[in-house]
Amino acid sequence: MLNPRKVAVIGCGFVGASIAFALMQRGLFSEMVLLDVDQAKAEGEAMDLSDGLPYAASMDIYAGTYDDVTDCALIVLTAGVNQKPGETRLDLISRNIQILQSIVPQIRARKFDGILLVVTNPVDVLTYAAWRLSGLPAQRVIGSGTVLDTARLKQLLGQHLQVDSRNVHAFIIGEHGDSELAVWSGSNVSGLNLDDFCRLRGMQNDPAAMQALYETVRNSAYEIIRRKGATYYGIAMAVSRIAECIVKDEHAVLPVSVVLHGEYGLEELSLSIPAILGSNGVEQVLEIPLNSSERMALTNSAGQLRDIVQRLPL
Ligand code: LAC
Repeated sequence: MLNPRKVAVIGCGFVGASIAFALMQRGLFSEMVLLDVDQAKAEGEAMDLSDGLPYAASMDIYAGTYDDVTDCALIVLTAGVNQKPGETRLDLISRNIQILQSIVPQIRARKFDGILLVVTNPVDVLTYAAWRLSGLPAQRVIGSGTVLDTARLKQLLGQHLQVDSRNVHAFIIGEHGDSELAVWSGSNVSGLNLDDFCRLRGMQNDPAAMQALYETVRNSAYEIIRRKGATYYGIAMAVSRIAECIVKDEHAVLPVSVVLHGEYGLEELSLSIPAILGSNGVEQVLEIPLNSSERMALTNSAGQLRDIVQRLPL
């Protein structure tokens, strides 16, 4: 019997531990089990987080094993190596697919029947692999995708347009990586397209400035990794937003990485497309309108991912 307020985080490195902390702060779950290949690390993170519970939410946080994941509503998979300076996310595939292949069959053997949220990079390729390995329906195997990239774009666009980023509606879609694209054609501020908003604000909607914002988003992780060695707070908040949408059955639209079955003429791969998300996972993938250059960029992104997916040892 699924416990709708139980979550497991597999992988207690910087990303996994930050996600556990972010989930705890949101008070979404009453039970959180932490798994790591290093059991002592999982225990230490559980102990450290539990110390703060009196100031956070009432929940039980403990280090566990795969036997504890069966009744979870959500499993967040973060185990794997992360980018080192100069590495792309796709460079991680050979190491992280092996880690995924050691984990997902363990989850499947415990008859897990909730939602599997993949965070490990390259997240789109690993989301597709996790679906193939898990035996779960496609709508319940999702990746964090470009939810973080979209937040980065909203934040930068809000600063540029001098407006609250929560009023900025824009998507980064495609690969969570170097081939991602910004959907400028559909971007708006509280329903006003960028031309109209800029005109009302006495600003210039400068395509060169937009391109610069997109490049800053695309290069964000590299710039952070170059300075602090890894990224983990931004992704943790993006994942906690996805978890909130699932736990509260919000039917919200988020650009998670989804298994495609013909959307935009694409299939047999996962990449980030806006989707309606609720307690049973992806309710609908939204084939949002794209102009010709956006469509071409998405096809290019898909092509890069498909080349890798086709070589996976699945
Ligand atoms: C980043 C990692 C999560 O973009 O890929 O920060």
